[in-house]
Amino acid sequence: MNPKLNIAIDGPAGAGKSTVAKQLARRLKLTYVDTGSMYRAVTLQALRSNTDFNNADALAQLAVKIKIALFSGDGDFRITLDGEDITQAIRSPEVSRQVSLVAKVPAVRTNMVHRQQLMAVAGGTVMDGRDIGTRVLPNAGAKFFLTATIEARAARRKLDLSQQGYQVSLAALITEIAARDAQDQNRAVDPLVPAADAITIDSTNLTAGQVIKQMEKHINVTGNDA
Ligand code: DC
Repeated sequence: MNPKLNIAIDGPAGAGKSTVAKQLARRLKLTYVDTGSMYRAVTLQALRSNTDFNNADALAQLAVKIKIALFSGDGDFRITLDGEDITQAIRSPEVSRQVSLVAKVPAVRTNMVHRQQLMAVAGGTVMDGRDIGTRVLPNAGAKFFLTATIEARAARRKLDLSQQGYQVSLAALITEIAARDAQDQNRAVDPLVPAADAITIDSTNLTAGQVIKQMEKHINVTGNDA
């Protein structure tokens, strides 16, 4: 495995990106980077500090100030905010509801993108998000765009949430995911679109293992990226 390889996985909420990215990272001995968790960390901090989600300047200042650290190893992923483990806290329905308001602020994005690029500078990452192939790592060695029907994505999210102790109806999740898709696809800066050179995989009727098999066919293990 070339240590320089970075792999970008983008796609809408609930398409299975994190499950696949974690497993792929473990198989290829790369570092998993969940970029959505970083926007969630800013959102959590905004909730805790009663920041107005319509105040772009306040959100941007907050994003600059906070210390975020990601830890990945052997399929495990953790994130800390100013030293506190917030891996669970960032998955709350409240954070999920507000996060796209934070992710659409251009100055917040600039800060997060810069942090993400630094994490990938030495290569060796599997990074998942919305703008990885288009903006964060335009030279990634492999780029994937993972999709699935909204019903399949909502059903997966429901299962995830129930495993974390949150009971949310399927209908409510479909509405919420549709709203988040619209926000992510229509925002002015770095909207969710497949990179021109990304390989699109529809995961609706595939297991994570089947998605990974498809991806591995396209990953040049001796490949390189700048
Ligand atoms: O993948 P997720 O659900 O944890 O992402 C949370 C939010 O952050 C979602 O609204 C999309 C946004 N996001 C983004 O704009 N860019 C990224 N690279 C990752 C996530």
